Order: sequence, then C-alpha cells, then structure tokens
Amino acid sequence: MKNWYKDAFTEDYIHIYQHRNQTEATILIDRLLKFLNLPGDSLCLDLCCGFGRHLSYLLDQGINTYGLDLSQPLLENAVEIRQLSGRVILGDMRHIPFSKSFDFVFSFFSSFGYFHRDSENIQVLQEINRVLKPKGRFLIDYLNAEHVKDNLREHDLRCYDNFTVKQKRWINSDLNTVEKELIIEDVKGERSYFESVKLYDLVDFRQLCSASNLKITHEFGDAIGKPFDIGSSRLIMVGGKIDSHLS
Ligand SMILES: C[S@@+](CC[C@H](N)C(=O)[O-])C[C@H]1O[C@@H](n2cnc3c(N)ncnc32)[C@H](O)[C@@H]1O
Repeated sequence: MKNWYKDAFTEDYIHIYQHRNQTEATILIDRLLKFLNLPGDSLCLDLCCGFGRHLSYLLDQGINTYGLDLSQPLLENAVEIRQLSGRVILGDMRHIPFSKSFDFVFSFFSSFGYFHRDSENIQVLQEINRVLKPKGRFLIDYLNAEHVKDNLREHDLRCYDNFTVKQKRWINSDLNTVEKELIIEDVKGERSYFESVKLYDLVDFRQLCSASNLKITHEFGDAIGKPFDIGSSRLIMVGGKIDSHLS
C-alpha cells in the first residue's frame, strides 16, 4: 500500500469524486485570486493538477499556468476534454521536471502528504522551493487533520445512475494517516482503490517547511479566506522562501 498514489488516480477517480468538479474549482480560484494579489504576468505551476480543473480556469483568467501530475489517464482527460495539450506534463512531485522558475506553485485539494516517510514529503517542499523564483510563493490547500479526526465517517455508500461507491475510512495511528478503501461497482464489475494521506497539522507543516527553507506566512480555514482554527474545514497555507523577507 506504500505506493498507493500510483494506482488510485484512474478514470474512475473522476466519477468517484464527481462533486470535486469544475464548478468547485472555479469558485475556489475566484475566491483565492481576490486575496492572493497575483500580478497579471505571473507564471504558475499547478502541482498535481489531475484532470486540470483548476489549471484550465487559471488559464481562462489569463494566468500563465502549467500543470504536473503522475496520472496518465487524468492527464489524457485534461488534454482531450480541456484542451490542455502543451500545458500539462507527466511527472512526480518529488522530482519536478521544470527548469522554469515560477511565481506561484499551487497544490490544490489535498495533493500532499502521500508518502509514508516524512523525508519524502519534505522532498516535495524542497522541490517547490527549488522551482520558485526568489520572491515566489506557494499555496497548499490541505485537509485540517483535527477536523478529519473529529468528523470521520467510517462507512458510506453513494449510489449514482450507473455505479455505486462504498467507502470505508479509518485512522492509522502508527503512520499518522487517514486511510480510505473505496469499492466501485458498475457494469464492468467491481474495482477497489486505497488512499492514505498524512494527518499533518499546522505545527507539523511549519516544521516540514522550515526543513525545506520555506515559511508559511498566512493560513486560512477555507477558500473565502476565513482565519484558520481547529474546527476549520480546510487548512490553506500560503508562504514563500525563508530568505525572501516575506511578511
Ligand atoms: C486528490 S487529487 C487532486 C487533483 C487536482 N489537484 C484536483 O483538485 O482536481 C491528487 C492528484 O495528485 C496526483 N499525484 C499523486 N501522486 C503524485 C505524485 N507522486 N506526483 C505527482 N502527482 C501525483 C494524482 O494523480 C491526482 O491527480
């Protein structure tokens, strides 16, 4: 299960997470752009862009953005459905294959904390640091670990027109992860997927960032920009390089 992220993001992901759609991405970007003050000529990276729902809307807003993801099927969808050819690249977030320097690196919708070893998650932050311009900034849109633990729904069943999804969730205290088993059933039969995401909290993130020469400057509890607190639904962090004198 260590390399679960290599198998979990197939075409099925788009159907299972159909509520994580273009509308949700559009609302998030519209709200974020209000408080991020991105200069019009910014060059941005959507790290783990998936099928490109944020990336395509950033481009629609005139923001020069590229995307990286490890899932071939999701990138094919990005190219075929969203015409993102030339904008997306297949790669691993631990080895970002861009020689460009970015003004902003985005990580949307819990696309971090996928590696069981902290050192590998730090490696991702180090890569973000490496591809940022000296005054570049990053945004990580992550789960709020406390909220996840307090509201864990151990089982649920969702029924759609053509398929059903059974989900089982649990906390793995040894690995400090929240884990999920998903069973999808449709005319093709039954398939199962597994997910495992680190339950890093803000204190953990400050340490991981500091080990990567990054600093968190702002944290929000949702996409409207509400201050983060223990009951927030999300943990959205914005920051930059430690030595860039960001405030
Ligand atoms: C929860 S999805 C979010 C996708 C997208 N940000 C969105 O909000 O629609 C996580 C994404 O991370 C990608 N991913 C998983 N492991 C990766 C890795 N090691 N390097 C790059 N991308 C990875 C998956 O393929 C998937 O598209």
